[in-house]
Amino acid sequence: MNSNKLRQLYLDFFKEKAHAVISGASLIPENDPTVLFTTAGMHPLVPYLLGEKHPAGRRLTSAQKCIRTGDIEEVGDRTHHTFFEMRGNWSLGDYFKKDSINYSWEFLTSTQWLGLDKNRLAISVFEGDEDAGFDKDAYNIWAEIFEANNLPLERIAKLPKKNNWWGIESGGPCGPDTEIFYWTGDANNIPGSFNDDNDFWVEIWNNVFMEYNKKADGTFEILSQKNVDTGLGLERVSAILSGFDDNYLSDLFWPLIEKMENLSGRKYNESEEIKNSMRIISDHVKAAVMIITDPRGVAPSNTDQGYVVRRLIRRAIRYGRQLEIKSELWLKELAEIVLDIYGDVYSELKENKEFLFENLNKEQIKFERTLEKGLQILSTQMIAHDKIRGEKVMINKIDNIDGDPGFIPSEINGTWLFNLYQSFGFPLELSIEEIKKMRPSQWIDEEKIKKEFTEELKKHQELSRTASAGKFKGGLADASEDTVKLHTAAHLLLAALRKVLGGHVTQKGSNITAERLRFDFSHPEKVSPEQIAEIENIVNQAIRNNYQVVCEEMPLKEAKARGAMGVFESKYGEQVKVYTVGHLKEGSNNDFNQIFSSEICGGPHVKNTLILGNFKVKKEEASSSGIRRIKAILEN
Ligand code: SER
Repeated sequence: MNSNKLRQLYLDFFKEKAHAVISGASLIPENDPTVLFTTAGMHPLVPYLLGEKHPAGRRLTSAQKCIRTGDIEEVGDRTHHTFFEMRGNWSLGDYFKKDSINYSWEFLTSTQWLGLDKNRLAISVFEGDEDAGFDKDAYNIWAEIFEANNLPLERIAKLPKKNNWWGIESGGPCGPDTEIFYWTGDANNIPGSFNDDNDFWVEIWNNVFMEYNKKADGTFEILSQKNVDTGLGLERVSAILSGFDDNYLSDLFWPLIEKMENLSGRKYNESEEIKNSMRIISDHVKAAVMIITDPRGVAPSNTDQGYVVRRLIRRAIRYGRQLEIKSELWLKELAEIVLDIYGDVYSELKENKEFLFENLNKEQIKFERTLEKGLQILSTQMIAHDKIRGEKVMINKIDNIDGDPGFIPSEINGTWLFNLYQSFGFPLELSIEEIKKMRPSQWIDEEKIKKEFTEELKKHQELSRTASAGKFKGGLADASEDTVKLHTAAHLLLAALRKVLGGHVTQKGSNITAERLRFDFSHPEKVSPEQIAEIENIVNQAIRNNYQVVCEEMPLKEAKARGAMGVFESKYGEQVKVYTVGHLKEGSNNDFNQIFSSEICGGPHVKNTLILGNFKVKKEEASSSGIRRIKAILEN
């Protein structure tokens, strides 16, 4: 069975269980400053999990592209990826634990659906702590299923919060979860009990029972509705269905591995090191392709999402050097394979192909230059050192690593190499490789260098964590009055931009905190101060007109026919919400005398514009090529 079949089966199953299929969202979250990427299918559903009404109903299912960068350094094993596809089903205050668990069991084990071997499945449930008790209900539901199937109850483990609790770190809907694992090891040696440390048990599905809201102060409150949020990992289940214990052997990766074998003349199975490099390269290139070609695509840069793309590409190139790939712009060659694999699943890949190739090539050329520059600085430093010493480095000083800089210059320590990495992106592993070319390896105290480097890196990470904690304060998770006001202001701003700059302006992203609004839009040149003044005027006039903000639900087709703005593509013809800002006819609740703005949007918004106060643009700047960015605030 290939991945396409699994993609469809999942949605079919939940359709049969009365779920509405909704489109996956962009990889770049809108109006949510707490995260850089969509990390799970529940992400675009946060307002609905908190109680907003969803236009498609209370039972939903979707296919969501996800990016997780938290453990980018760990990618390289059999089952972890930066980009992955999540299949999910949701109950928004509808069914709860019993149905959720039974649906999962039926889909996984029934021969009408996936027909997985029941004997290879294991479960974990939340053991309880001071915030919430042991999830007895989930345990009992599973125990009943296991007993009915003669399976050992020891395969249902009770684990702590770090394993069995799910929510976005910064806050919002969350709760205990139950996770389903599949034994990917030897069929004759399936352990009688579940053990979290054995990585042949692979987590394939997570069912979260979201009955809590984590507040900004870190405490939990009970939500007004009990939700279910589940996520099944497509790559893992797809590999399992094909009988592989390594996701990279499946049809979602193998063509990329084959291409790398051709490019490098090496074999995937040659050694663990080669395997690791090929896994990392294919993972990173795929993730970079997905981010760049997203409908709200992002090019490599030094900030936010763009920085992640840059890091992914640079790491891929670095591992490419280890494979000694000779071909020049090989990233593009791999990206073409990603397009072969996913082009028919995600049309945006083909639509944004030119933008993708251009950026990959540009970044590769730039990074190769960076590497050259780094190498130059490194060797200049070594040679200068030799000169100063005024003598050739002597072999007989071997025992004297710490005291005498005869082996490698004392200034080329881990701290210095960290600076080289910071300023030129020149990675430590490469530095060490290069130094080894210039000095016998027994002269190099690798451990000491690595320790110094890591200490410096940690200091730096602490600084940037503090900075981003400040930056990401507030936001959708607490949907405060201030964020909602700025959200409505964003709609007014888009309408004003189109009036002043022209109909080519579309929204490319937005990011709202309680303090300010950041709005990216397509426009080829700087917006002049006069134009900014005019835009502010139009928005402020709209605010003073005290327009009504009206929400209506309708099929996407109708919303588009009415000219509602919004980056929203749908394969499933679902219902959407349209927010219209204008003056209603006397006594009507959806017939307008005058329309100022109309957008497809999940909400929430204010009811009348007057409450927004005064709109002020604080900054206008370039965001990336062809995209401008405005930062604005509301003053009372
Ligand atoms: N949100 C949960 C997860 O990401 C279930 O989808 O694991």
